[in-house]
Amino acid sequence: MAPRCWRWWPWSAWPRTRLPPSESTQSFRQQFSTQEQTPQICVVGSGPAGFYTAQHLLKHHPRAHVDIYEKQLVPFGLVRFGVAPDHPEVKNVINTFTQTAHSDRCAFHGNVVVGRDVTVQELRDAYHAVVLSYGAEDHRGLEIPGEELPGVLSARAFVGWYNGLPENRKLAPDLSCDTAVVLGQGNVALDVARILLTPPEYLEKTDITAAALGALRQSQVKTVWIVGRRGPLQVAFTIKVPRPRKRLMELLLRAAMEKPGVAEAARRASASRAWGLRFFRSPQQVLPSPDGRRAAGIRLAVTRLEGVGEAARAVPTGDVEDLPCGLVLSSIGYKSCPIDPSVPFDPKLGVIPNVEGRVVDVPGLYCSGWVKRGPTGVITTTMTDSFATGHILLQDLIAGLLPSGPRPGYAAIKALLGSRGVWPVSFSDWEKLDAEEVSRGQGAGKPREKLLDPQEMLWLLGH
Ligand SMILES: Cc1cc2nc3c(=O)[nH]c(=O)nc-3n(C[C@H](O)[C@H](O)[C@H](O)COP(=O)(O)OP(=O)(O)OC[C@H]3O[C@@H](n4cnc5c(N)ncnc54)[C@H](O)[C@@H]3O)c2cc1C
Ligand SMILES: NC(=O)c1ccc[n+]([C@@H]2O[C@H](COP(=O)([O-])OP(=O)(O)OC[C@H]3O[C@@H](n4cnc5c(N)ncnc54)[C@H](OP(=O)(O)O)[C@@H]3O)[C@@H](O)[C@H]2O)c1
Repeated sequence: MAPRCWRWWPWSAWPRTRLPPSESTQSFRQQFSTQEQTPQICVVGSGPAGFYTAQHLLKHHPRAHVDIYEKQLVPFGLVRFGVAPDHPEVKNVINTFTQTAHSDRCAFHGNVVVGRDVTVQELRDAYHAVVLSYGAEDHRGLEIPGEELPGVLSARAFVGWYNGLPENRKLAPDLSCDTAVVLGQGNVALDVARILLTPPEYLEKTDITAAALGALRQSQVKTVWIVGRRGPLQVAFTIKVPRPRKRLMELLLRAAMEKPGVAEAARRASASRAWGLRFFRSPQQVLPSPDGRRAAGIRLAVTRLEGVGEAARAVPTGDVEDLPCGLVLSSIGYKSCPIDPSVPFDPKLGVIPNVEGRVVDVPGLYCSGWVKRGPTGVITTTMTDSFATGHILLQDLIAGLLPSGPRPGYAAIKALLGSRGVWPVSFSDWEKLDAEEVSRGQGAGKPREKLLDPQEMLWLLGH
């Protein structure tokens, strides 16, 4: 009988250095059972990439021990701090991650900022292998005049605010304007536009923070424009159907051309909120209010396409259009940052240079997820590439390419962190915080009310 893993890693999705078909996962796993040593493996980051890498290593090696280090006090990365509150089904992956964390060969160490509290070199000295899965935590800048004006926010910060990311809890976006402009036409742009326009009563039973819900209840935003520098064929947002590009075009065309029936026309006329897509417009300048103190609009360069299909480039025609608005949300992508001077980083591509997950020129160092391939792709894409990195690491282990002899693993890092006054939190600590959040949400009928303040979280844990 085929081993279970084939179901979630079909041959068609295997990386280039896949095992030959004759070598089943079972026999791959058996190669380790003759070895005595316990490989100590460290994973940096507890988002989908970190957890799926750990899952693969634990499943395919009978003794490997995996420590997951996370800078936040809580696990799960963008599944907690990115995925929109009105998409709770996506967050079910947390159940799988929790199973992995419950393995007696896996440990979670939150509240540890790798690169600050402990260096990557110290981790490499303590472990047989280190996997960097720390995602893409920054946003890409617009690099246009006026970007720094109040009223201009990154979608990343806005998402962090409504999802309870501690560093964004005090963002307090000003929603007193009539019109918001979202720059970029990816799925994040759709998320933020939807959250701005959804009647708050539809969000009440989600895990959106109480502060965000309160602000959205007071919001005066009535119109949201989602602006793209290229055309409808090049939009980056996706739909959940086969042959998405064709279907997406059909939907867009139908919405644009179809004359609404009487009832639909009446419904639209009475709608209190509206949104629209604007194509062939590239941000050129944020326009200030007359007193120069905040954003009052955006100047867009009208563009045309050079080339065809998804590779077509937007080039300015020389015309401009000014769009009045009081809120500009820049949603043109996330960005990874270098973690530590000892780790190579490609600033242009915003990734750690790697070949199939092996960090170039650094034996024993690997990467997975957004920091490996850039800030695109959904959770299943991240799963596939994290399994691939896990697979490559185990191949290197078999080939004797990782350090031989025992490694101290967490024992050494714990001592270092203790000497630096860093207090890591465990997965069972997270489960206490989780229970507290769930209990705080109950009164309001929410799945949870997220804790926002790290000091309060530490206090709840007795520190
Ligand atoms: C707003 C938004 C919404 C999304 N919604 C969906 C969706 O609905 N469905 C879907 O399939 N995909 C969605 N995605 C995509 C999905 O979230 C990503 O594919 C996935 O999270 C990438 O995983 P990752 O582990 O590489 O990064 P992350 O999820 O960002 O995880 C990285 C982890 O590393 C930690 N970290 C960072 N630096 C350090 C450090 N120095 N030391 C220790 N830890 C560190 C971070 O705190 C974080 O926990 C969304 C993405 C965004 C941005
Ligand atoms: N529900 C979901 O499944 C979900 C939700 C959220 C996010 N995600 C995933 O997370 C990933 C990240 O999403 P994202 O929306 O941040 O990124 P994205 O999909 O890469 O979209 C970025 C958008 O910004 C535009 N852009 C980039 N640079 C620009 C510039 N200088 N000026 C103007 N426009 C610019 C891009 O246009 P060009 O194409 O012209 O470059 C594109 O429209 C995606 O893979 C997405 O699918 C999934």
